[in-house]
Amino acid sequence: MCGIVGAIANRDVVPLLVEGLKRLEYRGYDSAGIAVLSGEAVRRVRRTGRVAEMEAAALAEGLDARLGIGHTRWATHGGVTESNAHPHISHGELALVHNGIIENHEAQRQRLEALGYEFTSQTDTEVVAHLIHHHRAQGGSLLSALQAAVKELHGAYALAVIDKRDPTTLVAARMGCPLLLGLGEGENFVASDVSAIVSATRRVIFLEEGDTAELTIDGVHVFDADDAPVAREVHVSDVSLASLELGPYRHFMQKEIHEQPRAIGDTVEGIVDAGGFDAGLFGKEAASVLADVESVQILACGTSYYAGLTARYWIEALAGIPCAVDIASEYRYRKVVGNPKQLIVTISQSGETLDTMEALKYAKAQGQDKTLSICNVPESAIPRASRLVFLTRAGAEIGVASTKAFTTQLVALFALAVTLGKLRGQLDEAREGELLEALRHLPGSVQHALNLEPQVAAWASSFAPRQHALFLGRGTHYPIALEGALKLKEISYIHAEGYPAGELKHGPLALVDTQMPVVVIAPNDALLEKVKSNIQEVRARGGEMFVFADADSSFSESEGVHVIRTPRHVGILSPIVHAIPVQMLAYHTALARGTDVDKPRNLAKSVTVE
Ligand code: M6R
Repeated sequence: MCGIVGAIANRDVVPLLVEGLKRLEYRGYDSAGIAVLSGEAVRRVRRTGRVAEMEAAALAEGLDARLGIGHTRWATHGGVTESNAHPHISHGELALVHNGIIENHEAQRQRLEALGYEFTSQTDTEVVAHLIHHHRAQGGSLLSALQAAVKELHGAYALAVIDKRDPTTLVAARMGCPLLLGLGEGENFVASDVSAIVSATRRVIFLEEGDTAELTIDGVHVFDADDAPVAREVHVSDVSLASLELGPYRHFMQKEIHEQPRAIGDTVEGIVDAGGFDAGLFGKEAASVLADVESVQILACGTSYYAGLTARYWIEALAGIPCAVDIASEYRYRKVVGNPKQLIVTISQSGETLDTMEALKYAKAQGQDKTLSICNVPESAIPRASRLVFLTRAGAEIGVASTKAFTTQLVALFALAVTLGKLRGQLDEAREGELLEALRHLPGSVQHALNLEPQVAAWASSFAPRQHALFLGRGTHYPIALEGALKLKEISYIHAEGYPAGELKHGPLALVDTQMPVVVIAPNDALLEKVKSNIQEVRARGGEMFVFADADSSFSESEGVHVIRTPRHVGILSPIVHAIPVQMLAYHTALARGTDVDKPRNLAKSVTVE
């Protein structure tokens, strides 16, 4: 949450900061701001709303500078106002941007007020600006002031700071929130993620927890948590500019929905290239870590949690191992019974979701060190804290609503289930071959599902005026019902709930009337006849049904029952194919309602606060 970019260069950094903030906007879009060193002065432009509004103001001010920092905010402490927007300035000299939460900000605020500092915002961030300023006043460099200040902070932060008394330096610090340095020719950068700087450089250093850094035009110096100089590895990012741009699409969500055959294909290719369902898929240590696994505990949030719920069916069916799935923010606060032979699987698109990270740390603290992360962002915090890693190959996902990350997570989890099954002798070679073949055909089936878009879009006009919707599914399609409901509420703001279809008569049926559209995911699997009975229960109460069946389900349209058929039933991988129409339904309903599809209100793409 919140995006940071900073630059020191031999050219005007204002366009670099603005472009970087536009690419980071997915991290928060309540307000945006930049501060630059222009001549002898720190000049700042902040606006509530989108980066584009701040950009227009910066252009009007004619800012031109060689050193500057920028920020896009997702509000935590203090409302969405210009005075709470970053950068924050201390004494007109020092400007700072911050991502994270300073837990001891109240105590620090009192202390700094007693020292004569005046506060102009309600943020936790402003204390950090004044605190660094206070240490600077004791003598020493901007870097040493930053190093002294961070030792007095509790909480999570990524920081970038400039000071007019030190026009050749940009300093940065990281604890609990991602921050990287970008290495250019005669210019260097700091950013929350590589997308912000990729048009300038691909050479990056990921700061470690507790690191501070000093950037000049000529180079960067990194220091560890004890302030000792340290050499960190330089990585060359393979993020492509094309993946960060809309191309012919209207929204990133639309682009990302349509990228799924490619994203799934690339992820499957990684499995095939590694020789199929082999422990090595999950890392060098995987064979020994997975060998004696007795149970699986999955931890995740949001859509990633629904991927985990789907995986439970696969893991129990294919590997014969008990599998529990918990919402990370619940797991981390309950007393769990640690089992060192339990595999802890965290699922996260971003790899930086705070609750998932904390749940992982908590699991490890219970003596559970068999940890596997399924993640889409290499070098992010959660995979780095895990012994085993499977990187999905979805490519950059920018729309706040997760789509291709979800379906590629499902591919990874399916591979995990089969691999565990194989290791436990539950699957013979023939069955393993069939399952690999099914994965190979998946991109094609997903493409067929995408071809249903005009039919799904036609349904959206029925949903757009509604206040509520129900999504029903059974078995592996129950989590897809949950995901369909989440997608719809997230981007169209229609209240939607996902239910196991069999649970309907235990409560939610009371909601059903002619105004309640009910979406049913009803492929031709072992539960089809049961789902059909559930549909009758809804129809008898006047509810209008929107059924996603597949070509093999014996369903016909009738009064109040609309049916769209996905392609031929794809067996165990059917939930992946059925994720596509529910994504498209949410997208087209949001379009019809005119909401901001890629940046739905109050949300952000990566949730690095509790
Ligand atoms: O990056 P993560 O997968 O850890 O994110 C988890 C959730 O915040 C995320 O899936 C969220 O629910 C999405 N916006 C749903 O579309």
